[in-house]
Amino acid sequence: MNIYSQLQAIVLAAGKSSRFNTIKSKLAHTICGLEMIAYPVKLLSALTENITLVVGHQQEVIKDIMAQHVSVNYVEQKEQAGTGHALLCTQELWNKDYILVINGDMPLVTLDVLQNLLNAHMASKAVMSFVTAHNIDPQSSYGRVVKEKDKVRIIEAKNLPITSNFEEYCCINAGIYLFNRSFLETSLVTINKDILTKEIYLTDLAASAGLQNLHVETVSAPFDTIRGINTLKELWTVEHIKRSELINYHMERGVRFVSAQHVHLDYNVHIEADTTIGAGAILRGNTSIGKNSTIDAFCVLDNTRVGDNVTVYSHSVLENCRVEDDAQVGPFARVYKESVIAQHAIVGNFVEVSKSHIGKKSKAKHLAYIGQATIGQNVNIGAGTIVCNYNGVSKHETHIKDGAFIGSNSCLIAPLTIGTSSIIAAGSVITDVVPDNALAIARERQVIKEGYATKLKQKYKASKKTALTSNDVVNL
Ligand code: UD1
Ligand code: CA
Repeated sequence: MNIYSQLQAIVLAAGKSSRFNTIKSKLAHTICGLEMIAYPVKLLSALTENITLVVGHQQEVIKDIMAQHVSVNYVEQKEQAGTGHALLCTQELWNKDYILVINGDMPLVTLDVLQNLLNAHMASKAVMSFVTAHNIDPQSSYGRVVKEKDKVRIIEAKNLPITSNFEEYCCINAGIYLFNRSFLETSLVTINKDILTKEIYLTDLAASAGLQNLHVETVSAPFDTIRGINTLKELWTVEHIKRSELINYHMERGVRFVSAQHVHLDYNVHIEADTTIGAGAILRGNTSIGKNSTIDAFCVLDNTRVGDNVTVYSHSVLENCRVEDDAQVGPFARVYKESVIAQHAIVGNFVEVSKSHIGKKSKAKHLAYIGQATIGQNVNIGAGTIVCNYNGVSKHETHIKDGAFIGSNSCLIAPLTIGTSSIIAAGSVITDVVPDNALAIARERQVIKEGYATKLKQKYKASKKTALTSNDVVNL
């Protein structure tokens, strides 16, 4: 029998995240750029389209996240009365023979783990199967799996005897279960509240099956694949594992990481072979980097497309932009708001490029602000050039045509067009259209006063002396 046609999945996502101590639900925190809750749900969508999320705490946040990923059903758990109670809330939606239940806070789980569970369940005559792992940390809050003869029980960490020998309790409950619907229908309603916490524990179903002489199957998985996240420390550990997996994936495809332990990488980042990623680089969102490029130390790239043979020098911040083949950016450059740095262009140190297009082989090598500008090919933007696109009320565009040369420390007041092959003299404030091939100078003329330097120095010395004398008098 094909289990997939008779399978539905339920994800428990209503919990309060009380051990996180953040206002935001733990399930909305990201791990390598993807929200925690999206990991198990995306995985389940490979097995079935019939997915229900139990939501409660910050349910609007959870729904907004899921809307970007997978289409699911929702059931509200009005009070967070435990995992068993959460599952009970979904009862009306049970319409398949097999019900897969998974905690929402375990983002490292793999398809292999889920498939092993399905296979083991089908191969045995179990009414309930669940995933276990090995963990001997006596401090960990996982439920412990205890096997006595042919019976299996799950004891929650809070209920373990204080004198427990933890060698005996190293088999833990992962939080992934497969049930026969008929067993759930008869047994879940019979589970009593826990004496300590007054919550209904889903895990008590294992003992319930035992009491009814029904078989419970367990399937083991590597602990790292089933880690649950209850605290920010556990989130940090899990993100570290995820990031290592991603870096390993790219390394196997020819990407060099100078100091892999200091790189942050989101799950959607794409990098081609022979590219080098420097220490402390942060690559976020849908960033893609072509081949043979270098992203130097401490650069941040967010939703940025970088071509082949590009160098982004250290400490540059690129966001929602595109850097084409053979271009250079940085150090200390900021490029954002859909800007494009075309092939062989150079954007150097302390240059900010916002909503602009820098044409092929054009250069802005030092200290410039380029906002809302369309710059042609082979343009040279001198050091200290400012494109003044904002007058305090509205913003305007600037067009700089091919081959123009903008002298250093010029202000280009938008809206403005600067013609092909024209020259702007250094220190100019340009307010009007500059025709093709023209020279524009917009600055004070220089005045020379021969021999005046000596006179000036004498004057300054005299005034300093006077000032000193009067001071001395005051001090007496
Ligand atoms: C749970 C298991 C424990 C297991 C561990 C694995 C129970 C009683 N214990 O413990 O045996 O080792 O997971 O990580 O199930 N939730 C709801 N409604 C609630 C309470 C929780 O939807 O009323 C959701 C949470 O959002 C979370 C999941 O259920 O996604 C698990 O809850 P959590 O409080 O994290 O359980 P643990 O204490 O980790
Ligand atoms: Ca948990």
